[in-house]
Amino acid sequence: MRVKNKFKESFILHCNAGGRLFPLVIGCLLFLHLFSFAHQRYAQSGETHLSTNQRTQFSILERVEEENIQLPQPRKRSTRAAKRKPKRPTTFIDEFLDESSQLRNVFFPDQRTAVDSRKDNGNDTYYYHPGRIWLDTEGNPIQAHGGGILYDSRTKMYYWYGEYKDGPTYHAHKKGAARVDVIGVSCYSSKDLWTWKNEGIVLAAEEKNETHDLYKLNVLERPKVIHNEKTGKYVMWMHIDDANYTKASVGVAISDLPTGPFNYLYSKRSHGYDSRDMTLFKDDDGVAYLIYSSEHNKDLHIGPLNEEYIDVTESMRKILIGQHREAPALFKHQGTYYMITSGCTSWSPNEALVHASESIMGPWETIGNPCIGGNKIFRLTTFFAQGTFVVPLSGVPGLFIFMADRWNPADLKDSRYVWLPLTVGRPLDHRPEYSFGLPLWSRVSIYWHKKWRLPYR
Ligand code: GAL
Repeated sequence: MRVKNKFKESFILHCNAGGRLFPLVIGCLLFLHLFSFAHQRYAQSGETHLSTNQRTQFSILERVEEENIQLPQPRKRSTRAAKRKPKRPTTFIDEFLDESSQLRNVFFPDQRTAVDSRKDNGNDTYYYHPGRIWLDTEGNPIQAHGGGILYDSRTKMYYWYGEYKDGPTYHAHKKGAARVDVIGVSCYSSKDLWTWKNEGIVLAAEEKNETHDLYKLNVLERPKVIHNEKTGKYVMWMHIDDANYTKASVGVAISDLPTGPFNYLYSKRSHGYDSRDMTLFKDDDGVAYLIYSSEHNKDLHIGPLNEEYIDVTESMRKILIGQHREAPALFKHQGTYYMITSGCTSWSPNEALVHASESIMGPWETIGNPCIGGNKIFRLTTFFAQGTFVVPLSGVPGLFIFMADRWNPADLKDSRYVWLPLTVGRPLDHRPEYSFGLPLWSRVSIYWHKKWRLPYR
């Protein structure tokens, strides 16, 4: 009697079936190879898998939160006054801009609700409260308007640079926009994007020299900083102007440390064109780009910087031609470039739009308003704010922080920050029936929340 040997049998089976299994084995090997290649690519793109907990918190951020604000009853006027000058109906924007509005505290909540990381915040720790006063680790309101954030892998810290506007608001000319004299560019550091330490003014205004670009009566807006791996320098670009916004130039400054001091180099009209609102974008391949509103804000221009990031090159493309957009903020997700812009209405809020492109130099396509939740007027005013930067969050694919300024033109130093979760990946609201081979963009969504926090520390 033969004793059945399971192992032998299976061995024989394999050997006998060798002819048929060979392609299967090769197939498996090929699959494993492709899998590890894809995994490597995925890991290289800095994306990781989300834990179930993170996924739940992520979907909480995508919940639509309503906002119920009503216009107050119009103030009583005498019949004679009403006859003399009939008043057009008040809008939410009028109320927003009116310091004595009953809604003032809705848009600009007072000191009592300030976000203060020094306090025991209990369950509110790490929560962003868009529009509230936000204090630094010394208890002072953060002054970093029109700013941007740099993650520095050397110090493993986030640095937030912006306009330090802690001075009196006034009008240089009767018809000119409200302004604060230039004080300088501030820098705040953080490990968690919530607790911010004031690192001081890293590029200061020039007090006496009237011919200097940084002279206090000029304009310095929207500073952005990137790091150059080749030179080791931190490079700051900013909008430099005179009080009438006719100089319309960009300025450049460099530093050895993220916390400055920055050494101001020069200003110029890039590619020979006027430039006002601007931003920088550093791509994965280390090439950095300058994007600026030009030709009296009619178009945007985009072009790569030179290797040191201290000048532009000759290459430049005009994009979003004739669309009158400003406050550009760029980011990239899974190989697609996205940009959020605002309309051009000075300090008054307006509707944000998202644009997308497969190549940073364009063509860029406008894909719509990204704002979700709040109510219609919130969505048509970018939640009563204007974008300035989009912060990529490594570790949570598809999640970004949209940074915006809620300007207070009556008292610019009291302008607030509106930080909200931005996600990429939902299908578009209106998916075209036929794409004609053109790319089908993912929806970029900015969700309104009264309070929210990141899905990890
Ligand atoms: C806005 C611009 C701000 C500032 C302001 C002055 O349109 O985005 O950065 O320049 O105008 O009126």
